Amino acid sequence: MLEISHIRKKFVNQSLGQAATVLDDVSLTIESGEFFTLLGPSGCGKTTLLRIIAGLEQPTSGRILFEGLDVTSFPPQRRPFHTVFQKHALFPHLTIFDNVAFGLRIQKLPTREIHERVETALALVKLEGFDNRLPETLSGGQSQRVALARALVNRPKVLLLDEPLSALDLKLREEMQAELRLLQRQVGITFIYVTHDQQEAFTLADRIGVMKAGRFEQISSPEELYDQPKSLFAAQFVGANISLPVFGEVQGLRGSFEFSSCGQVLRAHHLIGQSEGSRVVAFVRPEKVSISTSQRSTEDNELSGSIMQVSFRGPYTEVLVQIGPEAWIPVLLDHQQARALELHVGQAIQVYFRPEDTVIFREEESD
Ligand SMILES: Nc1ncnc2c1ncn2[C@@H]1O[C@H](COP(=O)(O)OP(=O)(O)OP(=O)(O)O)[C@@H](O)[C@H]1O
Ligand SMILES: [Mg+2]
Repeated sequence: MLEISHIRKKFVNQSLGQAATVLDDVSLTIESGEFFTLLGPSGCGKTTLLRIIAGLEQPTSGRILFEGLDVTSFPPQRRPFHTVFQKHALFPHLTIFDNVAFGLRIQKLPTREIHERVETALALVKLEGFDNRLPETLSGGQSQRVALARALVNRPKVLLLDEPLSALDLKLREEMQAELRLLQRQVGITFIYVTHDQQEAFTLADRIGVMKAGRFEQISSPEELYDQPKSLFAAQFVGANISLPVFGEVQGLRGSFEFSSCGQVLRAHHLIGQSEGSRVVAFVRPEKVSISTSQRSTEDNELSGSIMQVSFRGPYTEVLVQIGPEAWIPVLLDHQQARALELHVGQAIQVYFRPEDTVIFREEESD
């Protein structure tokens, strides 16, 4: 439906006369009705890409196609898209009804149609009865809903949202996330949603595009991104508690590599892009790691370490285990298990994880 093809964007710094590449050959195809999330750290180019899709910014090169039509040179109002920004500007002196009706009045639609469409849009965002209120009398979440209603009332084919919930507190944000997802299914509009919050991306997205410095590191479903990250950056960007990587050297291409700092051999089933002898980083999700106070002889990877820290984390206990001079692994245990093991700082402990859950990346990717 929407094809973003080889987009590059350079900004020229006027005083220095230097050009900085902000988007570097970005390509992406978005399906009709999809909830697509752009996820990445601050400054990686998310807003710039969204503005180029919206037509608020011209790419240096590349094309935007909508249903096969090249819209790259179209002004924003000729594209069937609508943008909702982080800071939504409602007109302070207009009522909620008039704020939502604004775009329709510009199009000079009949009064009755305007009325019907505004009421439908306000009902969609659960603001029935707010018609005559002024923006200043609304809470943050309510005014963000008005911004959404104002977008929906135009019946865009694609809704572009740039961190629309980031100004809200956590609880309200989570509520609004659930409502947005429901709303998107209800109206069937394609959503492209920018966030730097991985939890938000996981909750909402059909697919996530992880961006780093103007490029996509990985585009996949949330599940695939979590279970089969394609780079260490993507692996570390998602997940509540990420294992600090252990460094080593590839020993054989049958899936083993030597863990350099302790000389212990680890096995991995996922080796991503390296050859024998290259320096690598091993990665495992903390919930895939278990610990034991005594040696076990199993097929699992096993490392000896000592407990650095035991922290209560609400639903679980996090145990930080030092496994080398510069290497730690956080392990998540349920409280009962943690209590039964009577863990204490300084205690010698064995750490286990399965080769199936171990991923190895090239070391240079760890920046
Ligand atoms: N008009 C501009 N002129 C020059 N540089 C710009 C301009 N707009 C953006 N940039 C630069 O482009 C880079 C990407 O900016 P962008 O706003 O797309 O990042 P972002 O991923 O949305 O970040 P954030 O999560 O902080 O919103 C930044 O380094 C920014 O300074
Ligand atoms: Mg931004």
